[in-house]
Amino acid sequence: MLPVSFALSAPEVAASVVVFYDEDKVLVADKLLDSAAQALVSDLLQKDDFKGSSGKTATYKMALKDKIITVVVAGIGKTSDLTPLALQKIGASIIGALQSGQETTAVVAPLGAGGSIEYAANDMAAGALLKGYRFDKYITKERPDVKKPKLSSLVFLVNDKKAAEVCFEKTSAFVRAVYLARTLQNEPSNILNPETYAEKIKEVFAKLPVSVKVLGEKDMKKLGMGALLGVGQGSAVESQMVVMEYRGSKTNDAPIALVGKGVTFDTGGISIKPAANMEDMKWDMGGSAVVVATLQMLAEQKSPFHVVGVVGLVENMPSGTAQRPGDIVTSMSGQTIEVLNTDAEGRLVLSDALWYAQETFKPKTVIDFATLTGAIVVALGDLTAGLFSNNDKLAEALFAASNDANEPIWRFPLNEEYNKDMNSPIADMRNIGSGRGAGSITAAQFLQRFIQKDVAWAHIDIAGVTASKNGKDLAPKGATGFGVHLMERFFAAYSSSQS
Ligand code: BES
Ligand code: MN
Ligand code: ZN
Repeated sequence: MLPVSFALSAPEVAASVVVFYDEDKVLVADKLLDSAAQALVSDLLQKDDFKGSSGKTATYKMALKDKIITVVVAGIGKTSDLTPLALQKIGASIIGALQSGQETTAVVAPLGAGGSIEYAANDMAAGALLKGYRFDKYITKERPDVKKPKLSSLVFLVNDKKAAEVCFEKTSAFVRAVYLARTLQNEPSNILNPETYAEKIKEVFAKLPVSVKVLGEKDMKKLGMGALLGVGQGSAVESQMVVMEYRGSKTNDAPIALVGKGVTFDTGGISIKPAANMEDMKWDMGGSAVVVATLQMLAEQKSPFHVVGVVGLVENMPSGTAQRPGDIVTSMSGQTIEVLNTDAEGRLVLSDALWYAQETFKPKTVIDFATLTGAIVVALGDLTAGLFSNNDKLAEALFAASNDANEPIWRFPLNEEYNKDMNSPIADMRNIGSGRGAGSITAAQFLQRFIQKDVAWAHIDIAGVTASKNGKDLAPKGATGFGVHLMERFFAAYSSSQS
């Protein structure tokens, strides 16, 4: 993570400065430019017809106090519109220019515009870091198209250094969590398989107050997790279930359980997928990464809540030992499932993970994240995730959090008519619908059969949003970590509503 710091005045070494222009083409904070430089920048912006709209930047080189510096001008739109999210996007807009430049230190002018400069600096820092994430560990040679950035220090000017730093403890824990989720997601499936993934999770929590329990195939067999085990039985590596528990100060409260689909690679199994784009199925553990990362964040932020995470880690492979279409498996709940399509495996994994979470921890709320259906990609593309819930209050809290996080979700219906479609004539249920469409809803109906009485449950289908081809406002291309920001806002609001 790029080092971020806060200062009362610009460090001598800073050869890049970032200043802000509003949509009336007024320089908002002028601490970094003397009047001559201000006039010069104004002329240049006039010439370039720079509008000052939010997200736009322009970069100039000029002499300032007998030093050649790079001036990045960032548009901020209306100063009255500077919500935390808008500030994050402004922070994100400057990072491209800074990372492609030659300077090692950049300093950002203070921007409060009515609110606290310290919070604004934190929001901008978060945005810059989120957008500035890179996954380049497998690039072994310098190449012009994947240059490593020279920038090694980003300094924000503030009035109260201490206050900004205290706030940054939470901000950076959040950013580290997004980075963790993205890196887990970006890892290829030969590196991250159920066994190496379980080891990695132990490492993540080795120094944090989160207990980690790993169930191997033997343990899961004992518990009767036939649904999850069936999915992994074609793989050369053992399936795993990793159980994480974080007890904040409100330890006696019934926990919130986060459950994640962790299919480290989804070939489809014997119902094998076509070759084109099959590599995208390395992202099929995206939901589990959101769960792991959220627990890391909550622990690092010293959240007051009691939160557990359960992730089912399996590899869905075709082989001589693989599950066949038509097989009937018995889930931990005792319900039997006719596996008509081995590619509808996520729900099989989740059925045992959901049941285990509820049996073990008696949570009041369960939220699951899963790259569950191609149908949700058809419905919502790569911008919005699907939300399914049996509880309006929970759905609304998630919806509000999603707006604050710029991670849009949209709610779909659940009802008995769709549920009926999952009945099997020879088992309690089948794992695919009758083919009349609504594939994301029937998948959710399947999951709901594993939700116990009085549990508030939400299922978030992140199949479309877990990876981005072109990048987004707050994410470069590749894994997005979608869901972590949503959980950050969800728990922040939960905090203030509970205390
Ligand atoms: N992992 C896929 C869903 C998926 C599709 C994720 C595209 C990301 C991008 C899931 O396991 C799957 O294969 N679902 C099937 C279900 C079908 C067989 C009922 C699907 O959506 O095609
Ligand atoms: Mn599948
Ligand atoms: Zn899958």
